Amino acid sequence: MKIAHISDLHVKCEWYEDRLGNNLVKYLNAQKPDLLIITGDLTDYGYYAEYKRAYSFLELIEVEKRVVVPGNHDARNEGYELFEEFFGTRMPYYEDEYMVIIGMDSSLPDREEGHIGRKGYKFLRETLKDKGDKLKIVALHHHVVPIPATGSDLAILTDAGNLMKVVDELGVELVLTGHKHKAWVWKLNETYYVTAGTATTRRLKAKDYPSFYMLYLEDEKNIRMEKVNTETLKVEEVYTLNFEEGKER
Ligand SMILES: [Fe+2]
Ligand SMILES: [Fe+2]
Repeated sequence: MKIAHISDLHVKCEWYEDRLGNNLVKYLNAQKPDLLIITGDLTDYGYYAEYKRAYSFLELIEVEKRVVVPGNHDARNEGYELFEEFFGTRMPYYEDEYMVIIGMDSSLPDREEGHIGRKGYKFLRETLKDKGDKLKIVALHHHVVPIPATGSDLAILTDAGNLMKVVDELGVELVLTGHKHKAWVWKLNETYYVTAGTATTRRLKAKDYPSFYMLYLEDEKNIRMEKVNTETLKVEEVYTLNFEEGKER
């Protein structure tokens, strides 16, 4: 099983580059992931014309299954309604015999920061409580744990602590996010918090590069995760995500 995790495309915004977009499509169509996860900010202002462009761009990626959640930029200008028109739901769900993925909308209207809220925790608890040893993945736009070297952290998930407690209780192995335009991985207790960078723009911190992740599920205990530079298409970093010893999945 191969999963691509991309984020913060901001398709055709001022800092978007066609070359980066083309590289991303080329790489993914060669790698042929089974599943594509997009953690928000597909657009810049949530305008209809932007949604159309973002949707057309994503159509170029040949993948059967997608889990797409909105970012704060997509929710601007009532864009969350358009998100549903183009992608069906703001709370996508995927399940097979090995894993379950829950996508959550953490955006707030015309706000930079994010929020999940009590209904969201309840939904997570009810949905994940009887999934046994399946790999559990939660995908949302806003980062949950602060990311270093990204300035003042005013636009984080405002109820991060509550979400982390729920995630910990439920044994969620992976929380996938975006938003900060800087790739980073934290592990807290048994959960990996993976933040993808911006895949296709130059909205970067200092001399960072645009990037995305490829996740290769090798066996029930390990995921090999590669951080790919969208500019060079070189793998810049390789992580081995290890899960609880002896847990059967
Ligand atoms: Fe973004
Ligand atoms: Fe964002």
